[in-house]
Amino acid sequence: MTTRFTPKFWKPGTAGPGQGLQEERQSTKDAEAQPVKYNPNQSMSIEQQRQKLPVFQHRSHILYLVERYQTVVIIGETGSGKSTQIPQYLLEAGWAAEGHVIAVTQPRRVAAITVADRIAEERGTLLGDEVGYMIRFDDCSDPNNTRMLFLTDGMLIREIMKDPLLRKYSIIMVDEAHERSINTDILLGLLRKIQKKRNDLKVIVASATLNAEEMRDFFNSNDTKEPLNDTATILTVEGREFPVDIHYLLDPHPDYLKATVETVMKIHFNQREGDILAFLTGQEEVQRVVSMLIDEAKKLKKDDLKMKVLPMHGSLPASEQMKVFERTSRYVRKIVVATNIAETSITINGIVYIVDCGFVKIKAYNPTSGIESLVIVPVSQASANQRAGRAGRVRAGKAYRLYTETAYDGLPESTVAEMQRSDLAPVVLQLKALGISNVLRFHFLSAPPAQNMLRGLELLYALGALDDNGNLTSPLGLQMAEFPLSPMFAKMLLVSGEFGCSEEALTVAAMTQIQNVFVTPSGQKIRMDKAKRRFSCEEGDHVSLINIFNAFLKYGKNSKWCHEYFLNYKGLCRAVEIRNQLHRLLKKYNVPLNSCEDNVDAVRRCITASFFSNAAKLHYTGVYKTVRDEHVLNIHPTSVLFPEAPPQWVVFNEVVQTSKDFMRDMTVIKPEWLCELAPHFYQLGTERELASKKLKTDTDEEDD
Ligand code: CDP
Ligand code: MG
Repeated sequence: MTTRFTPKFWKPGTAGPGQGLQEERQSTKDAEAQPVKYNPNQSMSIEQQRQKLPVFQHRSHILYLVERYQTVVIIGETGSGKSTQIPQYLLEAGWAAEGHVIAVTQPRRVAAITVADRIAEERGTLLGDEVGYMIRFDDCSDPNNTRMLFLTDGMLIREIMKDPLLRKYSIIMVDEAHERSINTDILLGLLRKIQKKRNDLKVIVASATLNAEEMRDFFNSNDTKEPLNDTATILTVEGREFPVDIHYLLDPHPDYLKATVETVMKIHFNQREGDILAFLTGQEEVQRVVSMLIDEAKKLKKDDLKMKVLPMHGSLPASEQMKVFERTSRYVRKIVVATNIAETSITINGIVYIVDCGFVKIKAYNPTSGIESLVIVPVSQASANQRAGRAGRVRAGKAYRLYTETAYDGLPESTVAEMQRSDLAPVVLQLKALGISNVLRFHFLSAPPAQNMLRGLELLYALGALDDNGNLTSPLGLQMAEFPLSPMFAKMLLVSGEFGCSEEALTVAAMTQIQNVFVTPSGQKIRMDKAKRRFSCEEGDHVSLINIFNAFLKYGKNSKWCHEYFLNYKGLCRAVEIRNQLHRLLKKYNVPLNSCEDNVDAVRRCITASFFSNAAKLHYTGVYKTVRDEHVLNIHPTSVLFPEAPPQWVVFNEVVQTSKDFMRDMTVIKPEWLCELAPHFYQLGTERELASKKLKTDTDEEDD
């Protein structure tokens, strides 16, 4: 049933209001943020808990399908037991016999660890023995004993580099496939290829929501000889579901933050008991709406039903995340204000009402400017329906969409896969390293735009990773492909010895991998900024990061000292760890280990030699424009170069888009360095075009 509520005004489809600056370090790189797992059956024995999960009913059917088919697509709600149970069923059924390993991939590092940890607990074994995990910079598995291995999808791609047929593995379960991360998509394409050569390799694709038919057909089309192509199938694990009424706005609303607060309050006053879940696009929005709702809660009269307002996003400490799962008394209504984390990653019991702002923050890539950024865009219909479905799990629910029904009809059916909106240089590099010379013909579940592919090829050529024929160069290209960092960072480290600054480059690489260098307790921003200035220098953020790291070491990695300077102690410890690993890699590749001491120009030049495609020049109007495409950019407020006298020329690591496009992690450079260090890119334009043409024509052979 569809009903309408209060008329308002706002243009859906326009970049929404209320997108304040994201002060947290939001990265287009894989985030460390991870939701906690809530276990409603905690009080039961492990065996009882396992049997209570919805997948348990399907245990023998799953095992039958895995025997009968090469690929099984399993769809089941979050919490139904896919990740923790299916690998154990497979183990119990003998799929890890004769030294074989059952691999389960996760898009996020933390998920790989927590699922492995949970299974080890369920089995009463030590993590790293029968159950292990393997993520970038951290291997907790035993090559002789590990039977169930949890790894990030990127790590499994690395395993394919070592053994293209993955002979050690009997089954690969690709988990959380609905996220359609770049690495998941590459992996699916590779597994499909491997299955052609190894028909004993089983693949399970597990997902909370997904276009299951599309996935099945992708794997079915594998077998071109058989007329029936019946090698893949679908299994759905149903949860309990009640109807959810959808309500739309009659007219658009100009501010979805305000609209969220108004709608929550309207529900609170007019609807019977039942908890509310509101979706917003980011941490900062969540915090703002939470404080607005707390203000409203203070205005409640004595006899009114009370409100308990809780934020939910990935950067909250686990103890705070757990609060959203706690039950409230009959006289209190729980209101959870969440980011997209609540769409598929967690299930909060007792939610009856949904408020959906209609937007989501995703990564986007502009192939013209070559810039990847985070943007807020309207959700897809599939997302909106998934959000609505978070209600109705205990009884009939209602979903309030803060947009009109016409706007809903105009939304894209499903979210564009990350593959189609990302910088593809890392993908191309990886595929090349896997021996797929013709990347444009690689069979993807959803092929990325050819223009993005070409842009990736071109950048790799300019970085010196590809030669004129589009093959990986040796040793630079091969080493870059092996390096567990994006191509530009890999290049920076691999050439840093030549610039005499590998120690500093290692620090820059490690420090930019952590999410928040500084932490801001609420109300202390001014003091935090002051602390930050003590490490800041005019050369930019990278050199400032080196200062912070060196000071951290100088003061003995002291947590108190970090606290005093608002530094993220855990993050810095992680940077030390990552740096050690990268250090070992440089040694392995015989990169000279040296320090430029006070000669910061050496690091700046080294950064320029790898980040040259992200160069921008100050325009007289006060904004920056990229050197190559005149794309307008601004200095991010978290940069040490903000708001002091802006430098003329900079290179940057990444772009974050909120109200504008902001450059983050910047280094001040000299313009002549660009021509000197990146001649392919800036000086010999014609040569670059020739190379790119050559790459373009290199597409004849069928690579499937
Ligand atoms: O993968 P899926 O979302 O279908 O479910 P799962 O991760 O296998 O989790 C199934 C259940 O195991 C959860 O609902 C929790 O009750 C429990 N669990 C837990 O207590 N701790 C974990 N780290 C993971 C799962
Ligand atoms: Mg799961």
